[in-house]
Amino acid sequence: MMLDVRGLSVVFTDRGEPFTAVDNFSLRMDRGEIVGIVGESGSGKSMTAHALMGLIRRSEVAVSGQALFEGADLLALSREELRRYQGRDLSIIFQEPMTSLNPTMRIGRQVEESLRIHERLSAGERRARALEAMALAGLPDPEGLYRQWPHQLSGGMRQRVMIAAALVLRPRLLIADEPTTALDVTIQAQILDTLRDINRKEGTAILFISHDLGVVKALCRRVVVMKQGKIVESGPVDEVFRHPKEDYTKLLIASRPGRKKLKGGGTDG
Ligand SMILES: Nc1ncnc2c1ncn2[C@@H]1O[C@H](COP(=O)(O)OP(=O)(O)OP(=O)(O)O)[C@@H](O)[C@H]1O
Ligand SMILES: [Mg+2]
Repeated sequence: MMLDVRGLSVVFTDRGEPFTAVDNFSLRMDRGEIVGIVGESGSGKSMTAHALMGLIRRSEVAVSGQALFEGADLLALSREELRRYQGRDLSIIFQEPMTSLNPTMRIGRQVEESLRIHERLSAGERRARALEAMALAGLPDPEGLYRQWPHQLSGGMRQRVMIAAALVLRPRLLIADEPTTALDVTIQAQILDTLRDINRKEGTAILFISHDLGVVKALCRRVVVMKQGKIVESGPVDEVFRHPKEDYTKLLIASRPGRKKLKGGGTDG
């Protein structure tokens, strides 16, 4: 068992009123597994991811439950202890790819950022590791890209830079929060292929978040369906897709936009 989340809850206090964004969420993941979280907008997917990463630590937000990563409770670690895990053992790709890159920093530097924090390497060693991660993330010509700026790249390429930055420390768990939502269908399919490759080559477990059950089905074997902060059903994705128990899940299946088959083709422009 790599990740064992038990009864995770996130409660905000908004003008004195409690609001439960995540309600008793539990999930177990093995090493190298790919699991999906699907749910409508506002169902608590990002909040769950942020809480798992230990990113919600404010007095007006109560996070309870346990998130055991290789036995250590991420929710109970001190900030300093947690920092040793973040990026190195588990890593997150945030939902907003366009705002997650620093426009004033060259691509190479951004990919290297967590190496600077976690490892003592020479500039040459850092560069080699960054180029390796960029290649793994499916970026063509890493050497050329290394010196470019974010604005010179397409949305798909920027998302791949985010993936490279998340992978540079070889985390065992990658949390990908809607990593393809802002991208068109062809590029989306290519990014999914890349994530699948990374999982196969590196054994990286992936917690993949999406509002689109079709995308989840293309990548994950297992899925949990969230609604209003709660898990309403979970299981093998094929089963959930074929025999959804909840009307809500049926709606998630029915409401997804018409899509092309999610495999190969085209260039990442
Ligand atoms: N700072 C905050 N204070 C109070 N409530 C918040 C805050 N941030 C988010 N929420 C609420 O928490 C709930 C869960 O939000 P979350 O961002 O996790 O949804 P999501 O499933 O990721 O949605 P999306 O698909 O749109 O990304 C929402 O109802 C949201 O309005
Ligand atoms: Mg979200």
